[in-house]
Amino acid sequence: MSANVQEATDASIELASFVKVPVPEPPTSLQQLINDWQLIKHREGGYFKETDRSPYTMELEKPENGCSKKIETVTRNQSTLIYYLLTPDSPIGKFHKNINRIIHILQRGKGQYVLVYPDGQVKSFRVGFDYKNGEVSQWVVPGGVFKASFLVANEEFDNGLLISEVVVPGFDFKDHTFLKDKDELKNLVGSEKADELAFLV
Ligand code: GUN
Repeated sequence: MSANVQEATDASIELASFVKVPVPEPPTSLQQLINDWQLIKHREGGYFKETDRSPYTMELEKPENGCSKKIETVTRNQSTLIYYLLTPDSPIGKFHKNINRIIHILQRGKGQYVLVYPDGQVKSFRVGFDYKNGEVSQWVVPGGVFKASFLVANEEFDNGLLISEVVVPGFDFKDHTFLKDKDELKNLVGSEKADELAFLV
């Protein structure tokens, strides 16, 4: 087991039926969790709730939007923490990237992550507690790397996946970018891989 995704076992992409065709409603147990914790729908898919935002702030230097040469100083909270949940009615977290590295900690269930590096390298691995079969329960996604995720069928959490994510400096939409479309994916990974991964755009 390792927090370094490069050491996680490569997994092929096989889709559960509810990833191909999402079901209309979450199972009762997961709906209960969504209600009890007041999770809300995330723009990238799935449900989430920010559970902590450090009251302390930090200043950092960042390239100005759309310009790699000009540097601006911005203020961010020192850290943020969220719960993130995938369910059979919302089983996919679509490709996006953050300028900061993101720490992921598995709470319940199983899923699969797909990372696309700036040079087009693709890494896919399973998250779960079955470390003997190559699943990992902690993983860190470097800044600037596109990330997507999808549910893997599991009995232990009613086909759900619940994780915690920590971002340092704290999350800000200005540091976050969605992958635009399949063409952008194709430019990064080539057309054959883009066909396989198009369901995550
Ligand atoms: N608001 C919308 N998306 C996110 C996210 O991924 N993390 C945090 N902390 N807040 C968000």
